[in-house]
Amino acid sequence: MQITIRPLDASSDVEIDQLQALEEALDAHAYGGIEAYTREQVRTRLAGTRYWSVEHWVAVAESLEGGESVVGRASAMMPLEENLETIAVHAAVHPALRHQGIGTALVEEALRPAVRASGRTLVEAYGEIPADGDPDSADLPVNRLATRMGISRKNLAVCRAAPLPVAEDLLDALQSEAEERIGTYRIELWADEVPDEHLAAYGLLMRQLELDEPDEDVEHEAPEYTPERLRLRERRRRDAGTRAIIAVAIAPDGSIAGNSEVEFHEAERSTLAMQENTLVMPGHRGHRLGLALKVATHRELARRAPRMRSVLTWNSHVNPWMIAINEKLGYRIVQRELVLQGRPDL
Ligand SMILES: CC(C)(COP(=O)(O)OP(=O)(O)OC[C@H]1O[C@@H](n2cnc3c(N)ncnc32)[C@H](O)[C@@H]1OP(=O)(O)O)[C@@H](O)C(=O)NCCC(=O)NCCS
Repeated sequence: MQITIRPLDASSDVEIDQLQALEEALDAHAYGGIEAYTREQVRTRLAGTRYWSVEHWVAVAESLEGGESVVGRASAMMPLEENLETIAVHAAVHPALRHQGIGTALVEEALRPAVRASGRTLVEAYGEIPADGDPDSADLPVNRLATRMGISRKNLAVCRAAPLPVAEDLLDALQSEAEERIGTYRIELWADEVPDEHLAAYGLLMRQLELDEPDEDVEHEAPEYTPERLRLRERRRRDAGTRAIIAVAIAPDGSIAGNSEVEFHEAERSTLAMQENTLVMPGHRGHRLGLALKVATHRELARRAPRMRSVLTWNSHVNPWMIAINEKLGYRIVQRELVLQGRPDL
């Protein structure tokens, strides 16, 4: 099989369709579900913004009939407002075509040259590994590629999935459990967008999550989530066909004490939902708000997107509080994810 690594041609409909087919194969293999983006939605997701720039490459295989197919992809992303030393790289290869050198070719021909050309010194990557076994084993393909990039593990995250819908009687029981301590806090639900009057407070919450989330030895500066940046995030999400269920906990004095978001893609064929940020602000912990927020989002998910079959979440392995809540809702380990960083001399 002849493999060529080249920059993605996002103007080509054929290439975009093949990239989406690759994405669906990767998600079906890893999680048993898909997100069915249209061509224009794929293009939206590929584009950079004023907050980060990004380059994409594809690994293309020539078939015997003379046609070409996209069998792997790589990307390099550079934050533009904070984390100015960082370049975040990623590579993935079709599950049926692994262990044939395609990942190595993406690293050698696309990612290492991109890091050198960028002038950025801190290289970051996320890599998927099985649920069990030594995460630092030198035999894991992700660790072999990481060695080539000169980076090593700084944290370990665990990916869990909950089958959907979560049973009504389980949600009722968990809601009662949360209500024992919730006092005069209340949970409010917003669809897709944060209301204007809460934008500034919501930005502080998003930043707090990045400050508080246990991430062991990862070097990361939490961004300033200005109202403009939050609106851009929502606009991109909408343009990608992704919908959001946003639950917030309102404190007795009317301020926002916590939030939890779940995203799902609008297409009929899409079956995989994603848990995004969940945070209870430091002064408001201990009222079971985390559980109450998640009960609210999972109920709403069954109402707004009954076709979803599972929802995924990622937690650091040193975050027992969030993991305990997730396990109550039925989340179980699917795989683990390495957070890799380093300052290589490439
Ligand atoms: C990680 C990934 C990109 C590797 O792609 P690949 O095409 O299989 O990579 P290669 O064939 O070049 O293999 C890379 C190394 O792992 C080894 N390897 C790959 N699959 C293996 C297997 N099943 N058993 C044993 N060794 C294996 C190769 O021998 C090679 O080792 P070497 O460096 O000593 O030559 C692929 O597994 C993948 O897409 N995973 C999901 C996405 C992900 O986690 N990406 C992380 C990178 S940021």
